[in-house]
Amino acid sequence: MNRFDFIVIGSGIAGLSFALKAVQQGRVAILCKTSRDETNTMYAQGGIAAVTGSDDSAELHVRDTLAAGAGLCDEAVVRTIIGEGPARVDELVNLGMRFSEEEGESADGERHYDLGREGGHSRRRVLHAKDATGREIQRALLAAVASHPNIHFFENHFAIDLITTQKLGIADVNKCLGVYVLDKNAGQVRTFAAPVTLLATGGCGKVYLYTTNPDVATGDGVAMAYRAGASIANMEFIQFHPTCLFNRKAKSFLITEAIRGEGGILKNVEGVPFMKGVHPMESLAPRDIVARAIDSEMKRTGADNICLDVTHKSAAFLIERFPNVYATCLRLGIDIAREQIPVVPAAHYQCGGVLANVDGVTDIEGLLAVGEVACTGLHGANRLASNSLLEGLVCAHRAAEWLRKNPIERSEAVIPAWQRGRAQDPDELVVVSHNWDEIRRCMWDYVGIVRTTKRLMRARKRIENLQDEIQQYYWDFVVTGDLLELRNIVTVAEMIIHSALQREESRGLHFNLDHPQANPAWAQRNTILHRERKLETIS
Ligand code: FAD
Ligand code: SIN
Repeated sequence: MNRFDFIVIGSGIAGLSFALKAVQQGRVAILCKTSRDETNTMYAQGGIAAVTGSDDSAELHVRDTLAAGAGLCDEAVVRTIIGEGPARVDELVNLGMRFSEEEGESADGERHYDLGREGGHSRRRVLHAKDATGREIQRALLAAVASHPNIHFFENHFAIDLITTQKLGIADVNKCLGVYVLDKNAGQVRTFAAPVTLLATGGCGKVYLYTTNPDVATGDGVAMAYRAGASIANMEFIQFHPTCLFNRKAKSFLITEAIRGEGGILKNVEGVPFMKGVHPMESLAPRDIVARAIDSEMKRTGADNICLDVTHKSAAFLIERFPNVYATCLRLGIDIAREQIPVVPAAHYQCGGVLANVDGVTDIEGLLAVGEVACTGLHGANRLASNSLLEGLVCAHRAAEWLRKNPIERSEAVIPAWQRGRAQDPDELVVVSHNWDEIRRCMWDYVGIVRTTKRLMRARKRIENLQDEIQQYYWDFVVTGDLLELRNIVTVAEMIIHSALQREESRGLHFNLDHPQANPAWAQRNTILHRERKLETIS
């Protein structure tokens, strides 16, 4: 048994930021399922939205966030996170994070951050490290964590299931006591126990066939929390990023929205800038609107992709501002200073998740959720670009502060060792990869950017069949990382479909052709899933 004061599942911005604060209160274990730098955070390009510009204000950032969120944001949460953002960004800088700065001497003699602009933002307010912001954040946080002897890293440790009093049959409020973890190096399941477990497992892009997310993004945290009895909110709101590179040799490579912030224009394959007339912000409209317009343009023209044109900018500018995108495209034979970039939308961000307040507190005692895995109410029905790194940073700090004021006692409960199936099957890999492909394709084809009730019902039937098969497989066989991920993606797929069927309207990222308008009766109503109570909605 591995005993700690805090178990942190995830080594992205949320997990590492929390660990750095929680270590002031006790010993911390950080688990991650591959290497410590393989996270969604690592791949973030555009940056962190925070008010630092002289022409900007918290009020404007709040307004843009609420407008993008299409009536479903929790305004108090939005105000808290945006209000506290600049202080948390300063802390990140003090830890060693290097944001890009404006060139040359400024009029006031001060150094100013170079601010990017992205979809839905009325001001330049995105702090960035050129176009590889996530890499720099991950570097700075990992370096800070490495200097703490009381933070212990467990790489290649796959969290399987949360251990709760309810699952152990202990008559008590439902309390999280720790987690069963597959040590992939040793091929053994270990028990980690602590009074506090923080879920910081990121999102679920891999539930879809095409995604900007790395392979680790299989929705494990949401699936584990659901199985443990936590409430899960708003899973129908999956954000599709409008511009993922369309190239057979590049898997999931994002073309940052900041390129459109510098005047890049979306065009169809006939060269027509089709966002004109769709929205006053044209190519820089909020993501839900741009992704739907692209979907419709691709269907209308029958083309496999659309294009992003930034050829009005010089090669020198593009190399300096977007070195990662420039070099990657060039390696694939596209000179973005001279040629248009072929792009397609791809699943990018999970706006829903484990229902948590702005301090990360969930409805299971001792279980907190922060970052993309959580649904706090910041994003509503559609996340404003670059607000997620901000949320991870602010909520991680608040979670540690909340725990300092509300310490949770260690439970005396006896935790049994892991017991599971023993069967091994040489066919397992084939079954897993076949089901995996079927789920991801089904979600892409039936539960994508534009939905219909009929397609959602078809998807539900298929996914439910797969769920039965996978559950049986899971209980009989020795667990492997692949099987665990399959079990989680099928659960998350089911949640997305159930929530989408429940919301009989179109709002933000959820667009259903059978209910094409927003229904005022659904404004401020969240779809909530719970293992025992099944599906319900709350305001
Ligand atoms: P992550 O950074 O995704 O970390 C998840 C961690 O959980 C990993 O360490 C993983 O190993 C671990 N984990 C998962 N499951 C398990 C398990 N079962 N057991 C053990 N460990 C587990 N947002 C912005 O605000 N600005 C941007 O510019 C931006 N650009 C983006 C670009 C790309 C290509 C992508 C994919 C996303 C981008 N986002 C951006 C979104 C943002 O990066 C993520 O929402 C954010 O980084 C999530 O951070 P996190 O700490 O919650 O999780
Ligand atoms: C991007 O750089 O386009 C991604 C920004 C985000 O997802 O917030």
